[in-house]
Amino acid sequence: MYRSPSHLSETARKAVADTLNERLADGLDLHSQIKVAHWNIKGPGFAALHPLFETFAIGLAAHNDTIAERAVTLGAKAFGTARYVASHSKIPDYPQETTRDLEHVKLLAERIEAYLAGCRASRTVAEQNADTDSVDLLTGVISEFEKHAWFLRASLDT
Ligand SMILES: [Fe+2]
Repeated sequence: MYRSPSHLSETARKAVADTLNERLADGLDLHSQIKVAHWNIKGPGFAALHPLFETFAIGLAAHNDTIAERAVTLGAKAFGTARYVASHSKIPDYPQETTRDLEHVKLLAERIEAYLAGCRASRTVAEQNADTDSVDLLTGVISEFEKHAWFLRASLDT
């Protein structure tokens, strides 16, 4: 661990940075999956869903950057190459042959829910280590992506 402006102990900083790196791997994986859905979607829902998925991707790219920079601020390194992500992400792989609009909606809803479960677990680690700033960061991610999951589930009527 490197020096950090944080007031937290090195042990606490490492615990939070480790969990943030897990969410970075998930988030980078999910971002690539959302883009695949954005590119390949076909069907009557295309006009609404193609730009909606892009909105998700833009928001997630910003969160990934914020999460990575928080880990480094805490004195750790951020890990995010494609190969690292492929071996560390907890998000199920995406069936890239999918084209049908509502099938993409279902697949993304499930994967966003998996991402959210990880974010909640990471927020608990941040709470346990009294890292209020990482708690706030993750709460912002969670509330935004819960809203996205709602959009998708509403599209599926489930
Ligand atoms: Fe595009």
